[in-house]
Amino acid sequence: MVSPDHSHFTIASTFRLGGAALVAFMFIWTICSSFNATPIPPTTTTPTFTASFSHYDSPERNFYDDPKLSYSLGSSHPMKGWDEKRQEWLKQHPSFASGALTRIVMVTGSQPGPCKSPIGDHLLLKLFKNKVDYCRHHGIDIFYNNALLHPQMFFFWAKSAAVRATMLAHPEAEWIWWVDSDAAFTDMDFVLPLRRYDHHNMVVYGWDNVVREKHTWTGINAGVFLLRNSQWALDFLEVWASMGPQSPDYEKWGKTQNAFFKDKRYSVSDDQSGLIYLYLNEKWGEKIYVEEEYYFQGYWAVTVPTFENVTARYTEIERSVAALRRRHAEKVSEGYARVWDEQLKGKGSLRRPFVTHFTGCQPCSGDNNPIYSSKSCVDDLIKALTFADNQVLRNYGYMHRDINDPSIVNPLPFNYPA
Ligand SMILES: *[C@@H]1O[C@H](CO)[C@@H](O)[C@H](O)[C@H]1NC(C)=O
Repeated sequence: MVSPDHSHFTIASTFRLGGAALVAFMFIWTICSSFNATPIPPTTTTPTFTASFSHYDSPERNFYDDPKLSYSLGSSHPMKGWDEKRQEWLKQHPSFASGALTRIVMVTGSQPGPCKSPIGDHLLLKLFKNKVDYCRHHGIDIFYNNALLHPQMFFFWAKSAAVRATMLAHPEAEWIWWVDSDAAFTDMDFVLPLRRYDHHNMVVYGWDNVVREKHTWTGINAGVFLLRNSQWALDFLEVWASMGPQSPDYEKWGKTQNAFFKDKRYSVSDDQSGLIYLYLNEKWGEKIYVEEEYYFQGYWAVTVPTFENVTARYTEIERSVAALRRRHAEKVSEGYARVWDEQLKGKGSLRRPFVTHFTGCQPCSGDNNPIYSSKSCVDDLIKALTFADNQVLRNYGYMHRDINDPSIVNPLPFNYPA
C-alpha cells in the first residue's frame, strides 16, 4: 500500500520533472521551429506532461489550416462536415477529451461605443461581473464581444455572427451559450440539466403551446439560448441570419413575420420572430427544445417581486439544515447545489429564478419600453444583481444587508444563519 504521504511526494516530484521536461521541450521546440516548418511532437507523454501541455497546439493539420475557412456568416465557402472536423480536432488535443460533452462557452456582449445612458456602462459592467461570477462557479469560459463582426448585423442580429465565430474558436466546447447583456444570473448554484437536451441542438425559453396556438412573437425569447457546437447549428445560423439586415430578403422577411405574428407591432424583421418562425418549421423545430420548467430566462417584472419571499424561504431552510451553513471554498460550491435541490424539491415557485432578463429595459441606451419607468428598470436591475451578489459574497464571508443597497456589506458570523 502506498501511504498518502508517499503518493503526495510522488505527485510533487513528477510535477517538478514535468516542469523541467516542459522547459527543455520548449527550448528544443523553439530551435526546431526556426529550421523546420513542422515541429516534432513529443514522443513520450506522461499524464503530468500532457496536462502541462494542454494549452499548446498540436502540430497536426486540421480545419484551421484550410485557407478557405471563414468565421463569418454568409461566406461563399460555407462550413461543411463540421462535426467530423471538431471530432478530429478533439482527437489531436486529447487533454480536452474529459468533459467534452458538457463543456460550455458563454458568449455575451454589447455595442462598440459608449452607452447613451450616463449609467449604462456602469450597469453593463455589473451585468458582466454577474456573468463572470456564474461562470467561475461552474467552470465555464466566457467571451465578451463588443465588436460588430458583421457591419450590417446591428442590434439583436449581432449575436448570430458572434456565436458562429465562437463555435469555430472553441471546438473543445459542446455548447455555446448566448446570454444577452441585460440578463442576470439570479441563482448562482443552479446547474443546467444538460442531459435533458441530449437529443436537441438548441435550447430556448418559452411556451410551446402558446407559440403553436397563438403565433405570438413573444412566446419564445431569443435573448438566452444554448446552441450545440455542430454542423446543424452552423446551418441554422445561416438560415436564421438570412432574415437579417444584411440579407437581400430582409424586407420580405419583415412582411412575412408581420403577416404571421398578429401581435407584432413593427414591420422590420427581428431575430426573435425569425427564431419562432423557424421553430414552427419541423425541419428545425424538432431539434429545438423549448424549456419552460425553470427560468432559463425569466421576465424581470415577474421574478424580481419574488426575491423577498424566496430569501425568507432559503434562510428558513438554512436554519434547519446545518450542512448548508458550513463555510466552504468557492470551488466546491457546485456540490452544495445538490443539497439545495433536495431541500427545494416540490417548491417550484419558491426557488430562486435562474436567470432574470431585463427585457424592455435597455440599460445601455436608457430607452426603456414606455410601459416601464426607467426608475423601476434600474432599481429592479440593481436589486437583482445584489440578490445574486449575496450568493457570491457568502463564500467570501460577507453579505449585503439590504438587496436594494449594493454599497453596504456585513461580515457573516460563523454558522450563519443558525
Ligand atoms: C410573499 O408572501 C406573502 C405571505 O405569504 C404573500 O402574501 C405575498 O403575496 C408573497 N409575495 C409574492 C410576490 O409572492
